[in-house]
Amino acid sequence: VAELTFAGGGSVLIGRGTLGTPGFLGEREGRARAAVLTQPGAADIGRRVARRLGDEGLEVSLKTLPDGEAAKTLSVVEEVYRWLIDLGLTRDDCIVGVGGGSLTDVTGFVAATYLRGIESIYVATTLLGAVDASIGGKTAVNLSAKNLIGAFYMPARVVVDIDVLEALPESLRREGAAEALKAGLIGDPDLVELFETRGMEADLFEVVTRAAAVKVDLVGRDFGDRGVRAFLNYGHTIGHAVETAGALSHGEAVAVGMVAAGRVAKTLLGFQDEDRQRSIIESLGLPATVSGVDASTVRKLIGQDKKRDAAGTRMVLLARVGDPRIERVDSATVEAALQAVGI
Ligand SMILES: NC(=O)c1ccc[n+]([C@@H]2O[C@H](COP(=O)([O-])OP(=O)(O)OC[C@H]3O[C@@H](n4cnc5c(N)ncnc54)[C@H](O)[C@@H]3O)[C@@H](O)[C@H]2O)c1
Ligand SMILES: [Zn+2]
Repeated sequence: VAELTFAGGGSVLIGRGTLGTPGFLGEREGRARAAVLTQPGAADIGRRVARRLGDEGLEVSLKTLPDGEAAKTLSVVEEVYRWLIDLGLTRDDCIVGVGGGSLTDVTGFVAATYLRGIESIYVATTLLGAVDASIGGKTAVNLSAKNLIGAFYMPARVVVDIDVLEALPESLRREGAAEALKAGLIGDPDLVELFETRGMEADLFEVVTRAAAVKVDLVGRDFGDRGVRAFLNYGHTIGHAVETAGALSHGEAVAVGMVAAGRVAKTLLGFQDEDRQRSIIESLGLPATVSGVDASTVRKLIGQDKKRDAAGTRMVLLARVGDPRIERVDSATVEAALQAVGI
């Protein structure tokens, strides 16, 4: 079992069978009730968590929200507020979100705003959730654009059970592996080496612990997202554009975005591991190139990136593995990067 501590208090608990261990919510005086939110894909685990908390003497209520992004809406948020009011949940109680990133994003937003803030606890049931979405205190719902409405609000505790992650379908494992590899590339060369030698067979406890530690560290140094936290956007400038253009899932698009960034970094910073990065990505079954997306759409979407300013696109680039920088990149360089990934 590993426990990583957040700068402002709270922690991530990572281990095998953590959901079976007593007291996994963390000690706190006066907690009487738990409102458990879950999603269809994690409903079995949600029920298990609810039963367990009931055994520990809490009064438990369970609600299943719509799946995926359909949960991240203000109307779902309102429905949950009304449910909590009906339950009479007070600030002594807690909200527990059991699911992937979309479920914990909306759980966190409800917890941040119900009664101006009530204890929130996440059980992250996807690999992407465990290494990325559950960590860092960004909560959000969608409104006209993704994640437009939200709050910075830290969960008191994040619980990751490796047994749950090992049972995930391959596609969800790969989604998370893309973000975990990203964490290694920006902050943990040993994690990159682990993926290089073991591919998708890499030990998930080590993957999650290392990747989560990279994010915990960056968030601890820059909670408000005005500095080093931006390193977590590695692969996301071009990746988001590719994802929005419609061809790939988020993790796949980030993989392509990292390959594109690798080409730019080689040109601008003399990054030596472009080929190595590409072959690790391919060995994880993630795409290094993309076909069938409209190049002009991708170009336009990169132009709209929020990290862009008058002087050009800002990208996270690696000087070396574990040494990220933020650099302005002109449009000719972006063009060469797009070519490197088949766009
Ligand atoms: N807050 C942040 O900092 C942050 C960071 C990255 C991503 N995100 C958000 O996270 C979301 C993506 O994360 P995600 O992929 O975990 O999303 P998700 O919650 O939509 O989960 C993906 C799918 O997996 C299913 N699922 C969950 N647990 C499962 C399990 N144990 N076994 C089988 N299926 C399971 C879900 O029901 C869903 O269908 C996006 O909404 C994104 O905006 C947030
Ligand atoms: Zn991402």
